[in-house]
Amino acid sequence: MPSRLAVLASGRGSNLQAIIEHFDNLARERVAKVVLVASNRADSPALVRAATASIDIAHFNSADDGSELVGLLKAFRIDLVVLAGYLKRIPPKVIREYSGRILNIHPALLPAFGGEGMYGARVHEAVIASGARESGVTVHLVDDEYDRGPIVAQWRMPVNPSDTAESLASRVLNIEHVVYPRAVEMVAILQQLESKRTD
Ligand code: GRF
Repeated sequence: MPSRLAVLASGRGSNLQAIIEHFDNLARERVAKVVLVASNRADSPALVRAATASIDIAHFNSADDGSELVGLLKAFRIDLVVLAGYLKRIPPKVIREYSGRILNIHPALLPAFGGEGMYGARVHEAVIASGARESGVTVHLVDDEYDRGPIVAQWRMPVNPSDTAESLASRVLNIEHVVYPRAVEMVAILQQLESKRTD
């Protein structure tokens, strides 16, 4: 049985799209499938992408203690939660219930250029301002500190002398679309092996 993925997204949803397409392309070989896309923003373009792909969508209140989100994830029997441009803090209650089962992607090489408030253009502006010669993509497990959970995958790429925050953001995003679906796949496989071992 494929692992059941929930993707949480607040924004444009290009990583969501890459994940949906990756598992669709694997067809019968797929180890996971997106069964729910949920957002704290009812107008998130990610919800439109999900609806277009005939995936269930939900809008939840991100101002509570996480009870609504936990209820939603349980109702959909979610195995793995994938944050894809979800900007709110995940409440401790959700982290406790889904410990080791929540993934995030960050558009830089953590632990550098991460932490509260480091998202979107700010990340790439900080990388350029620092004079760093490399940037990249980090996929990590989510714990109760912003961008600090164990790193699952990283991909490095050069920062070109001519790069602006915009050009760097766009090259990093292209890498995210390759790395994130594969990292999700790898974690789903490990999770399935682990649950067979403990059965
Ligand atoms: C990505 O750059 C990701 O690294 C960060 O938020 C952005 C989401 O983009 N966490 P999209 O909504 O997937 O297009």
